[in-house]
Amino acid sequence: MPKWLRNAVFYEIYPQSFYDSNDDGIGDIQGIIEKLDYIKDLGCNALWLNPVFDSPFMDAGYDVRDYKNVAQRYGTNEDLIRLFEVAHEKGIKVLLDLIPGHTSDTHKWFLQSREAENNELTDRYIWTESVWEAPPQYRLMCGISPRDGNYLVNFFSSQPALNYGFHEITHPKWQKPADDTVCIATREALKDMMRFWLSRGCDGFRVDMADSLVKNDEEKISTMKIWKNIRKMMDAEYPEAALVAEWCTPTRALKCGFHADFYLDHEGNGYNTLFRFHDKETGEDKSFFSKNGLGDITLFTKEYLPNLEATKNDGFISFITCNHDTPRMSRNYSKRELELAFCTIFTLPGVPFLYYGDEIGMRFIEGLNSKEGAYSRTGTRTPMQWGGGKNLGFSDAEKEELYLPVDDSEDAPTVASQENRPDSLLNTVKTVIKIRNENEDLWADGDFEVLYAKKAKYPFVFKRGKFIIVVNPSLQEVTAPFDYSGKVVFSIGVGCVENKKILLMPQTFAIIEVD
Ligand code: NOJ
Repeated sequence: MPKWLRNAVFYEIYPQSFYDSNDDGIGDIQGIIEKLDYIKDLGCNALWLNPVFDSPFMDAGYDVRDYKNVAQRYGTNEDLIRLFEVAHEKGIKVLLDLIPGHTSDTHKWFLQSREAENNELTDRYIWTESVWEAPPQYRLMCGISPRDGNYLVNFFSSQPALNYGFHEITHPKWQKPADDTVCIATREALKDMMRFWLSRGCDGFRVDMADSLVKNDEEKISTMKIWKNIRKMMDAEYPEAALVAEWCTPTRALKCGFHADFYLDHEGNGYNTLFRFHDKETGEDKSFFSKNGLGDITLFTKEYLPNLEATKNDGFISFITCNHDTPRMSRNYSKRELELAFCTIFTLPGVPFLYYGDEIGMRFIEGLNSKEGAYSRTGTRTPMQWGGGKNLGFSDAEKEELYLPVDDSEDAPTVASQENRPDSLLNTVKTVIKIRNENEDLWADGDFEVLYAKKAKYPFVFKRGKFIIVVNPSLQEVTAPFDYSGKVVFSIGVGCVENKKILLMPQTFAIIEVD
């Protein structure tokens, strides 16, 4: 386990939209380098970059054409290597996005695999025996290649699935077992891509759709075997590099080699019930962190606590403020609600991820046309808002040339308008991250004990070593049993302790250091 993960706080960068250093309307690697001091000042000490590789961008770069080359629009391989170097000088680690399950249909492997004649990459992807064979349980693309066969896709039709084989074989003529030599060759090719960037200074990977490798693998047995093999390679060759899974099943991901697994926004799961849980019929916000006070913290704890217990020796569960696939919380939350949510995220165990712009409460921009396969995710991917003036400081290009429009509302939040205001969201986020960074008890692997979490009740109270964290997102005054004394290290709103009870005013949060 890389030691640095214990106190890592990640910042996710969608490179298209972070900072445009050469005025062409799209963010780039040099732009990220120029903003490293900002990220450091936030208290983040690690980055995750969404894909920066050569791609036709049918899915914003998750359709890789050449994994070993940086897309021209972001710069060059040398720029990326320089980013690793400058980041390291500042104590910042950099994770790239690894997309192991599929490539673009313009990747040279695929162009070779789709050829009519047999060749060494014929089986690098999954093809049926003939174009007339298209069993409906598989997502197959039909009749669009010289080869007589249909290919399986993972996501969009331009993202053919790489062949890691099948755990259960239903069609023996075209499905290979996961230990077939052609499937092992795919795994080795993946390792080769990883080594390429690890040997150039990258600190690990966020792994896209990590559970999707082997097909018909309900229990993920063969998929987990592949990750165990890859972790073995990393432990031997790059023991300080980290692997973070997009899996959202820690009892699998953390058992097969990942150091951390994202707690993602999946409808009705524990994370979702905290921050983005809406009644299906009425649309009413029933999230625990909504001021409505209709939430139920036990929907979260009953899922999270057993997962945490089962994986405590294996790795970390990663809370996110948001990501490039998820609506920003600001879509439904006021500044105060965001503060309470983010402060809680940064005091929970595991390795937290801050999505660019969330620290200033950037909005989800409604009504945009889809950009590069983003569809409903487009509003979450707009340019970072640095200051006043042209394009809010994102780019000097003309407005029409921007990758996506900047928030054009008069009160669009910006870094410049918040950095000098002590009560801004930006400064609240900075303060809580600073407290986390300075106190080992609040790091990823520090103790965690729930003190108060009752069905349909507020507040939520938990203990991390010598700290107690209390949060009341609701508009009600609430109380909870509290048999401690100590000093308040940080608070939002007011509360007090009396007769072994804590009383919290509406919408409050506190970190208390117990005596
Ligand atoms: C998950 C990524 O986060 C998402 O943006 C992408 O579209 C799919 N995987 C496909 O790679």
